[in-house]
Amino acid sequence: MKKRLLTGDRPTGKLHLGHYVGSLKNRISLQDKYECFIIIADLHTLTTRAQKTADLEKNIFELVLDYLSVGIDPSKVNIYIQSQIPEVTEIANIFSNLITVNRLQRVPTLKEITKDLAIHNPSFGLLGYPVLMAADILMVKAEIVPVGKDQISHVEVCREVAQTFNRYYRKIFKLPQALVGEVPILPGTDGKAKMSKSLGNVINLSDSSPQVRKQVMSMYTDPKRIHGNEPGETKNNPVFIYLRAFAQPRHQKKLSEYTNLYQKGKIGDVKVKEFLFEVLEEFLTPIRKKRKTFQNNPQLLKKILNTGSQKARTEAQKTLLEMKKVMKMAYPKIFGKN
Ligand code: TRP
Repeated sequence: MKKRLLTGDRPTGKLHLGHYVGSLKNRISLQDKYECFIIIADLHTLTTRAQKTADLEKNIFELVLDYLSVGIDPSKVNIYIQSQIPEVTEIANIFSNLITVNRLQRVPTLKEITKDLAIHNPSFGLLGYPVLMAADILMVKAEIVPVGKDQISHVEVCREVAQTFNRYYRKIFKLPQALVGEVPILPGTDGKAKMSKSLGNVINLSDSSPQVRKQVMSMYTDPKRIHGNEPGETKNNPVFIYLRAFAQPRHQKKLSEYTNLYQKGKIGDVKVKEFLFEVLEEFLTPIRKKRKTFQNNPQLLKKILNTGSQKARTEAQKTLLEMKKVMKMAYPKIFGKN
């Protein structure tokens, strides 16, 4: 039997090339090896954006379109919406008694988020972020959890919660493993460490050709090179980093040629950017096409989400009942058939 895998995202907006390189590509290759669930973690967005719920529905559709257009296959993967599984909050509530406030305050992501967003008094929900995530993971009994580096500490909390549950009641949970790929981080088009929507340095998977062209042509290259006839740097040059990430086998020859010429100062930035634009267009064209077919079929999208959410809910109900049984909270004497 295939092991079960859970991964997912908060629906905060469109996905970009950095998401593709960092996680989507990996998910596509994992979907055959594992029984996959992908969570659209809308409840988790509330932890930092409790007032911004109006965009959730739109964001969920965009996210699903991004998934499907890059090749996540709904016949293999159950895509579900977290808030459609009410059991998850009940499981999270039980789990919240198995971990201390002190432990949660030591989770490094909490410190980062409160610092980045200037949150002086984190909400109860934000403190409980890893507890809700533990409920996501354990409710489907996922053993493999592919996540970014920043989420490892959350999977660690999940393991501790599972261990405590197993110790207090009975061993019903296997300890899940975080799966962190050796993925290169794609810098922003401005050369900053990461693509990030708030910095405006992204290329979205759903961007049109003119939008992609504009971003590529304004990309940051080697800051030390002033004229095209000076030797240039390619290793840390974002244009070359993107080329290496997206060049297909048929582009490799030209890529090594251009790399050589650039290092010798025999080719200008514009030429290399034209090449990158071409490579990205080849990558994005089939994605755009696929996106259109799904976009034109909202009924199908709804069906995919409904089917995935049904499947996840069935698992959640099973797990919650099993939990209550070993906790002696299923109350057969009261609610059992007589
Ligand atoms: N916290 C994850 C993120 O922001 C999203 C998420 C929520 C998740 N629940 C999950 C990922 C369960 C994996 C498993 O990236």
